[in-house]
Amino acid sequence: MGLFSKDIKTMDDLFVHQLQDVYYAEKQIHKALPKMIEKATDAKLKQGLEAHRTETANHIVRLEQVFKQHGAEVKAVNCPAIDGILKEADEVAGEVADKQVLDAAIIAAAQAVEHYEITRYGTLAAWAKQLGRADCAALLQQNLDEEYAADDKLSKLAESGINRKAA
Ligand SMILES: [Fe+2]
Ligand SMILES: [Fe+2]
Repeated sequence: MGLFSKDIKTMDDLFVHQLQDVYYAEKQIHKALPKMIEKATDAKLKQGLEAHRTETANHIVRLEQVFKQHGAEVKAVNCPAIDGILKEADEVAGEVADKQVLDAAIIAAAQAVEHYEITRYGTLAAWAKQLGRADCAALLQQNLDEEYAADDKLSKLAESGINRKAA
């Protein structure tokens, strides 16, 4: 269902649709991460992705809480955007033979995922507040904060990799 489908008439409909969309995205990310972890060669990168997979499982649980608090059915709708980002991550990583280049490609792909999540949770938290759902907004903000932190860690890893190479 597209964002401007006839089924979406109110801000509330839009909020729930976006929730279903990010719920699907989180589940796909949780599924895709083991392959990225397996391919990564740097130990810190592996650990970081592993830790974020645990956080991702919590994001799914928090989203289920948001659905319930809002009185909406826990449901996922296909999100072609995250499918594309994850498909590209899979393809790019598979083509790279050099370990350092492979890790750089994995970091870039993981950051694309984080940025996608950041844009969704930023919007959702704002909409939740607008709809008078401070309780939902607080949960969405927790997910958002963890996405920001994950992105920040990835940036630091990428920078340390560049420094290693330059040394
Ligand atoms: Fe997440
Ligand atoms: Fe994430």
